[in-house]
Amino acid sequence: MQRKLLLEHIDVPGIQTYDVYRSKGGYASVEKALKTMTPDAVTEEVKKSGLRGRGGAGFPTGMKWSFLAKPEGVPRYLVCNADESEPGTFKDRYLMEHIPHLLLEGMITASFALGAHTSYIYVRGEFFYIIRILEKAIAEAYKNGWLGKNIQGSGFDHDIYVHPGAGAYICGEETALLESLEGKRGNPRIKPPFPAVKGLYDCPTVVNNVETIAAVVPIVNNGGEAYAAIGIGKSTGTKLISASGHIKKPGVYEIELGVPVEEFIYSDAFCGGILNDKKLKAVVAGGSSVPILPAELILKTANGEPRLMTYESLADGGFATGTMLGSGGFIVMDESASIVHNLYTFTRFYHHESCGQCSPCREGTGWMEKILHKILDGHGSSTDIDLLWDIQRKIEGNTICPLGDAAAWPVASAIRHFRHEFEAYVNHPKQQHVVSYYDHCHNLATAEV
Ligand SMILES: Cc1cc2nc3c(=O)[nH]c(=O)nc-3n(C[C@H](O)[C@H](O)[C@H](O)COP(=O)(O)O)c2cc1C
Repeated sequence: MQRKLLLEHIDVPGIQTYDVYRSKGGYASVEKALKTMTPDAVTEEVKKSGLRGRGGAGFPTGMKWSFLAKPEGVPRYLVCNADESEPGTFKDRYLMEHIPHLLLEGMITASFALGAHTSYIYVRGEFFYIIRILEKAIAEAYKNGWLGKNIQGSGFDHDIYVHPGAGAYICGEETALLESLEGKRGNPRIKPPFPAVKGLYDCPTVVNNVETIAAVVPIVNNGGEAYAAIGIGKSTGTKLISASGHIKKPGVYEIELGVPVEEFIYSDAFCGGILNDKKLKAVVAGGSSVPILPAELILKTANGEPRLMTYESLADGGFATGTMLGSGGFIVMDESASIVHNLYTFTRFYHHESCGQCSPCREGTGWMEKILHKILDGHGSSTDIDLLWDIQRKIEGNTICPLGDAAAWPVASAIRHFRHEFEAYVNHPKQQHVVSYYDHCHNLATAEV
């Protein structure tokens, strides 16, 4: 089930550089698209591939591209979302750091399909070192005729610009990102109109995640059908999973969609099992925003079927017993983890990152943080647990952008599956042993080797 389409050459010494990347077949998809295909034919291959957006929502990429408005005389843009601030997700950073030309290649090929002559990579501000890596790769691509005017004599012109964010999670939301790129405060826009109609500078725009754009390269090289043959059902191709927490081998893994969750956690090819062979307690499968599931539900669906790493299988049972693949931030917690303490950490993050535009999110995230703090502090009551439940329900679905939902779902799922842990804090506050995921990471980072 290890299938490397994006990370195939990641370990090749010097793959960051143009010469080595090119020697491994780099930029072949641009050559193929520009010399032998029409823009619509490229989009058609992406549609056939079944590729779904890897930024979190899983929207079909080919369909998104075909929604792009094409009025005469109006520029179109491709914007690469490299903001990657979702706690637990670090795969885009890995890809850009180690194989930056793959992203550039995907951007040029995708821009050809979309008829975009300018594209932007909006990079999370904290990734300052990646900005340097990307800019060096872009300079190499210009020097070798893959960017600029009349690329490889094809008549197609294209420029790529890197734009750093300023450390705001909300700027990963695509319309907040566009506002920020325009130089404004990163507040999400009300949709419709969608960016495909009115995006950057009010022009038709496609916003895609780093991994989504990189996947265009193997799709064009091998054909959409070959990509669709990998994976299961509507979860086609490979997916980068950022694995962290209480596992023996944390890191970024490229999996064929459809690997059983149990295999992903316990196999030596992936996470290698639970650290110190402790018991698995819970998993956050798709980044901090998705519902947390207890061990029994992440390994098997409510019907007793093995849970698979696919969009559909992870969502099986809805939010009652399922979760989401999201951005693939796979956080594993062993029996020593405190669900309430971890939830507090996540909730504090969402409160801090709420842009403040919508009152349910602005106020609700703050209230949830305060109530969780009160419970952790030993001053909570069981009515506080009910209040927490009530607040998250009033946030979900009532905000302009899904940050509100992202803050509500972890709270709802933690109470749904681990209410007994909240009650333990309320009834026996002094007996709770608090070890959060972040404490664990901090301990690992500071441990003497
Ligand atoms: C609060 C918030 C933060 C987000 N952060 C990111 C991000 O860092 N990277 C990303 O690709 N998508 C992020 N998204 C999703 C984007 O809005 C958008 O769906 C995605 O960039 C589309 O690309 P895709 O179709 O290739 O997945 C975020 C959404 C929300 C609501």
